[in-house]
Amino acid sequence: MTKSTSLLLATVVAFGMMATTASADIKKGQKGYLKTCKNCHGNGTKGAAMHTQAEWEALFANEGASIIEKHKGTKAETYFTSPGFKGSAQDLRDFLFEYGNDSGNVPSCG
Ligand code: HEC
Repeated sequence: MTKSTSLLLATVVAFGMMATTASADIKKGQKGYLKTCKNCHGNGTKGAAMHTQAEWEALFANEGASIIEKHKGTKAETYFTSPGFKGSAQDLRDFLFEYGNDSGNVPSCG
């Protein structure tokens, strides 16, 4: 194997690993969404389409301060203020961001 071939191979492997990690988080986020948000906001397609990617980013900034605020006084308040939300926020964000209404992506099932 030449030097440049092995470099190319290493790059491909690195990208492959990155892609796997990213989609794993999105999958986890989708699962989390279906478990915790679907009852109130409908399926994943509908939920993610509530906002644009930029809006999702803003909602989840500062450990989700804004999305937590939106649920003050709703039945979901206990969830959003629990460690459970803290633990899943990143995955949820990844899922919702990936399928935001200006992303052009649609989840395969949900
Ligand atoms: C118990 C029901 C309930 C659950 C569970 C719930 N929400 Fe909500 N959510 C509401 C209500 C009620 C509002 C405020 C009214 C509205 O804007 O629809 C709201 C508001 C929002 C908003 C703001 C909407 C806007 O117009 O800006 C977003 C985004 C949102 N929820 C996302 C989520 C996500 C993501 C989850 C899961 C992690 C979730 N919600 C779980 C009831 C719920």
